[in-house]
Amino acid sequence: MRKFFISASVLSFILMFSYCSSSKKAAKAAVVTYDAGVMAVISEKCTPCHIPDKGGRVKPLNTYDTVRANIDDIIRRISLNPGEKGFMPFKHDKLSDSTIAVFKQWKEDGLREK
Ligand code: HEC
Repeated sequence: MRKFFISASVLSFILMFSYCSSSKKAAKAAVVTYDAGVMAVISEKCTPCHIPDKGGRVKPLNTYDTVRANIDDIIRRISLNPGEKGFMPFKHDKLSDSTIAVFKQWKEDGLREK
């Protein structure tokens, strides 16, 4: 009986340990970068206006440097509601909460390119 308790506690310790280390790995994989996340959203939602190659005539947001330099204004504007002064994407529906969260998370994660 005692042996059973010892092996049960060893087993639960192992389970707990492997659970913790796998959830850490999952959190690490979720870091938002420009290349994996932000770039795709901008090219889908901020085109053609901010993409010079597509004929955009307002401030270019088609590179890592331009997006990083404007991140605070971007987050401010996409958090507004349609009709409010400065709202982006101009004349389009508001981005979904999860898309807005990509920009916020990118900033929190340190504005990494890769
Ligand atoms: C239909 C065209 C259009 C789309 C789509 C659009 N914008 Fe804009 N954007 C504009 C125009 C026009 C301005 C200039 C007027 C202003 O500042 O409000 C502007 C200005 C901005 C500025 C300020 C630039 C500066 O001069 O400092 C930011 C930041 C911005 N947009 C972000 C975005 C983001 C992020 C998206 C996509 C989620 C987006 N916009 C989508 C037309 C657009």
